[in-house]
Amino acid sequence: MANRKYIVGNWKMNGLNDQLSDIADIASIAANHPSVDAAICPPVTLIASAVSQNAAFSIGAQDCHFNEKGAHTGCVSAAMIKQAGASFSILGHSERRADQHETDADVKAKAEAVHANGLGAIICVGETEEERDAGQAVDVVCGQLQGSFPNGADAKWLTIAYEPVWAIGTGRVPEAADVEEMHAAIRQKLGELMGDGADAVRILYGGSMNGGNAAELLAVPNVDGGLVGGASLTAEKFGPIIEAAA
Ligand code: G3P
Repeated sequence: MANRKYIVGNWKMNGLNDQLSDIADIASIAANHPSVDAAICPPVTLIASAVSQNAAFSIGAQDCHFNEKGAHTGCVSAAMIKQAGASFSILGHSERRADQHETDADVKAKAEAVHANGLGAIICVGETEEERDAGQAVDVVCGQLQGSFPNGADAKWLTIAYEPVWAIGTGRVPEAADVEEMHAAIRQKLGELMGDGADAVRILYGGSMNGGNAAELLAVPNVDGGLVGGASLTAEKFGPIIEAAA
């Protein structure tokens, strides 16, 4: 049986209080498409307000630390984002792996911390253009997945997002055949890592998904949804993607 489609917006470092109305507009569209699971991950500064204003809509975080508390200036813990009202967190986004030098081990520990706090995790994996050009894409992505894979993984709280780094923010997307190959490889690796239950883990595609290409991408086998950046910032742009998933 096909997994319910999951459409998640990653706002990255975009969004002040004025944009809370955009989340409300997106939540309204999502409510009209109950067959799709939708969510927005605003900056951490907006989580509590977004949750209080949209009780029935899922709000996530973009990251959290793997420790519960301590000398980690500027960081927030899984307990903190849960208390703010988040229901899950994106983890291991390529921008954090690059900018913050996050390792697979860091991502694994973060995923176990969010699970320990009753939150879901979307673990991001993806290759660079150089790795793809060198024919290493599948090995790199499956290696990231294996290294980032948390103990106790279960489809009830774990989602994987495949985001080719070269497609993020560029307007470029892989050929459908390449998306299909990678998602199949991720599905097979999940089977090796967790056995039964792997088929129920949702695998999202991310990287320049928009209203124009969402239907084609979401029709690819093992694409269970999207992790959307730029096209998630307004209801006008994000709504068509939710509708394409319905
Ligand atoms: O996490 C989703 C993001 O990396 C994709 O960004 O702007 O290419 O949709 P964008």
